[in-house]
Amino acid sequence: MSAVQSPDSTHFVPGSTNGAKGRRGSTVLNPKSYVKKELWEQAPIFTGSTRFDRLHDANNILITGGAGFIACWFVRHLVLAYPHYNVVSFDKLDYCATLNNTRMLDDRPNFAFEQGDITSPADLKRVLRKHKIDTIFHFAAQSHVDLSFGNSYEFTHTNVYGTHVLLERAREHGVNRFIHISTDEVYGDVPVGAADLSETSILAPTNPYSASKAAAEMMVSAYRSSFKLPLITVRANNVYGPHQFPEKIIPKFTMLLQRKQKLLLHGDGSPTRRYLYAGDIVDALDTILHKGTLGQIYNIASKDEISNMEICHRLLHLFGIPAPDSALWLQRTEDRPFNDQRYATDGSKLAALGWQPKMGFDEGLGITVGWYRRFGEVWWGDIGRVLTSFPVVAGNEIWTREEHDELSSSDTEVSLEEENEV
Ligand SMILES: NC(=O)c1ccc[n+]([C@@H]2O[C@H](COP(=O)([O-])OP(=O)(O)OC[C@H]3O[C@@H](n4cnc5c(N)ncnc54)[C@H](O)[C@@H]3O)[C@@H](O)[C@H]2O)c1
Repeated sequence: MSAVQSPDSTHFVPGSTNGAKGRRGSTVLNPKSYVKKELWEQAPIFTGSTRFDRLHDANNILITGGAGFIACWFVRHLVLAYPHYNVVSFDKLDYCATLNNTRMLDDRPNFAFEQGDITSPADLKRVLRKHKIDTIFHFAAQSHVDLSFGNSYEFTHTNVYGTHVLLERAREHGVNRFIHISTDEVYGDVPVGAADLSETSILAPTNPYSASKAAAEMMVSAYRSSFKLPLITVRANNVYGPHQFPEKIIPKFTMLLQRKQKLLLHGDGSPTRRYLYAGDIVDALDTILHKGTLGQIYNIASKDEISNMEICHRLLHLFGIPAPDSALWLQRTEDRPFNDQRYATDGSKLAALGWQPKMGFDEGLGITVGWYRRFGEVWWGDIGRVLTSFPVVAGNEIWTREEHDELSSSDTEVSLEEENEV
């Protein structure tokens, strides 16, 4: 790997054609835009590694959010490891999605993609009937905590109402299994030294994202009790790996270093997270599909607890930047309005089904950084604005925060002028 020498303050102009200039200076990402064939053919196909005997009551599996990060790994795994399961990826194709994530499956007879919105009862009814769905994995969500502070209605709409619509449609249609993907963040902050939390611990979310995920879990719980819907809930630690949209810390900081730009570290960088490699969560979900008990909740837990500052140091090391120069590459930004210090969950219930993480953090990080150095700049289109501090997203349109503030104040000026004219 070539080392970068010093942070570059010049503006980076990527070569990709995706990322059209939007209204009033924003970037509009196009999740349907494919990378060039020459490059595409060099991209590795990542999946999990587990294999189980076929379930005879699971034939047609719907994966919501299938063009996003974790779900695309799971879709690839199911399609390639289990040719007898028909897999339908259902996705709205939001700003963070890309069909590049499942393009390698396009000619597989057991794969289909359906564009649709989980908040649309009509979209879901059509797809559940058309594909005779008997099993659902529900990943689709607004998933980025940073955005949830500015755009919280969208989080409630997608994560709570969208989950409700999916549950209701699943109830009407009838399914054999519905596996709901939740997060360790629903438990809230766990103080240093406190015991790891089991699945029966109380939920105490602290930000609009985690609150919306906890609220969605309440609907799941209600459908389990009221309608005997065959539900399983999983709560996973932070997941990382190739294919994650570069708004989250590991891919974002990798791409900043790739562009010779400083790492935009929130606050003092001390909060920790536990990290699961994407291939490991896929194996956990595969285990839960084939061996999990209906009605149960499973934590998917890692032991790799790493602070944000430590992530910076490990990435700087991978880019060949000597430790004494680290400070030159860090730019402290304001923190989130509230930032949980750590999450800590106990994974022994899932371990009893035979799953444990296989990928060590340093190895997984090396694979991830290698992938982003090769493909990160083109996979989603122009990610320049995504890599700024607290960007603003509306639909598939992205602004820097400064651009958006300016836009909002000029909008206010216009509406004040309009008011004055009346
Ligand atoms: N990434 C993590 O570290 C992590 C950890 C624990 C749990 N989770 C959960 O896992 C799930 C997937 O997370 P991710 O990081 O892969 O997310 P992501 O943001 O990469 O993908 C989300 C996908 O959902 C789709 N989507 C959004 N709204 C939709 C709608 N209304 N209808 C249909 N599709 C819609 C998007 O287009 C996107 O493809 C989420 O439920 C998240 O809460 C994520």
